Amino acid sequence: MARQATNKLLQKAKKSKSDEFYTQLCDIESELQYYPNCFINKVVYCNCDDPQVSNFFRYFRDNFQRLGLRKLIASCYREVENNLQANQNAYYCEYEGDNIPMHITQFAGNGDFRSTECIALLQQADVVVTNPPFSLFREFVTQIVHYNKQFLVIGNVNAITYKEIFDLIQKNKAWLGVNLGRGISGFIVPEHYDLYGTEVRINENGQRIISTNGCLWLTNLELNLRHKDIDLVKEYIGNEDKYPKYDNYDGINVNRTQDIPRDYAGLMGVPITFLHKYNPDQFEIVRFRKGDDDKDLRINGKCPYFRILIKNKRNI
Ligand SMILES: C[S@@+](CC[C@H](N)C(=O)[O-])C[C@H]1O[C@@H](n2cnc3c(N)ncnc32)[C@H](O)[C@@H]1O
Repeated sequence: MARQATNKLLQKAKKSKSDEFYTQLCDIESELQYYPNCFINKVVYCNCDDPQVSNFFRYFRDNFQRLGLRKLIASCYREVENNLQANQNAYYCEYEGDNIPMHITQFAGNGDFRSTECIALLQQADVVVTNPPFSLFREFVTQIVHYNKQFLVIGNVNAITYKEIFDLIQKNKAWLGVNLGRGISGFIVPEHYDLYGTEVRINENGQRIISTNGCLWLTNLELNLRHKDIDLVKEYIGNEDKYPKYDNYDGINVNRTQDIPRDYAGLMGVPITFLHKYNPDQFEIVRFRKGDDDKDLRINGKCPYFRILIKNKRNI
C-alpha cells in the first residue's frame, strides 16, 4: 500500500514536471513566421496561459496589428492548492488592441481548459495557440477538434503515436508544424524544477532553460511547406536487399525518409520522422505500426519496427 502511494506521488511529480515547461518568445516567433495570413480577423485563444507570464500572450499582443487579429484571449489555470495564495485566482484577459482597455475577469472555477467557463471562451475563438500540459495533450487536442477550432500547439514527439493524434494526422486533419526536436531551442523551467542530469542553461534574462529534443508543433493551420514533394533519389529495383519485406505485412522497410525509393508502388514502412516532410499530395498514410496479425511489424522474426506504412500516390 505504502509503495503504491509512493508510486502515485512520483507519478504526480513526473506529470507536473513536464507540465511546467514554459515557452520562450524566440521559439514562438520562429514557428509563427510560417503562418503569416492565418490570423487575419481571427480571435486567438491561449487557454493554458497566464497573461502575466505567457510569451504566447506577449507575442500576440505585441503583433496584434501586424497579424490583423480581431481579439486575443488568454486564460490561466490555478490548482486548488495554489488558491491559498493572494491574487492567485484563475482569471482570463481579453485584449482587442491598444485603443480598447484590456479586460480582466476572474473565473469562478480554476480555469481548467475543460471547464464550462473555458469552453465558453473556446467557442468564441477561431484559433487556439499554446503549449498545453503534456500530460493532458490528447484530451486537449480532442477538445479543440470537437469544437471545430483551428490550432497550433506544442506537444511531445511521442504524441504522434497516440491513437487519437495519429488518426487526425492520417485523416489529414492535423499535421506537424515546421520546428521540431532541436528546432525548438528550449523551455523556461521554474526555480523549483530539479535540474539534476538535464541539459540546462541560463538565458540573458536569468531564466533557466532546459533543452529537450522531444517536442514538436502540431497544427491544422495551412502551411505552404507541407505541399512540397519529398525529393526521392533512391531506387528499389536493383537494391531490393536494402529494403527487406516485413514478415507480417506485404510491404518493405525503409529506415530513413531520404531512402524512400521513387520506383516502389506498394506499401513502405517509414520512421515517424517522415511526418515532418510528409506531403499529403505525394503520399497516403495507410496505417501505423502493426502488421496483418495486429502485432508490431517484424523482419525475420525480429525488431518491433515502429513504422508508419505509406504509399506513393503518384503514378509509378
Ligand atoms: C507546459 S506549461 C506551458 C505554459 C504556457 N502555455 C507556455 O507555453 O509558456 C502548461 C501550462 O498549463 C497549465 N495547466 C495545467 N493543467 C491545466 C488545465 N487542466 N487547464 C488549463 N491549463 C492547465 C499549467 O499551469 C501550465 O502553466
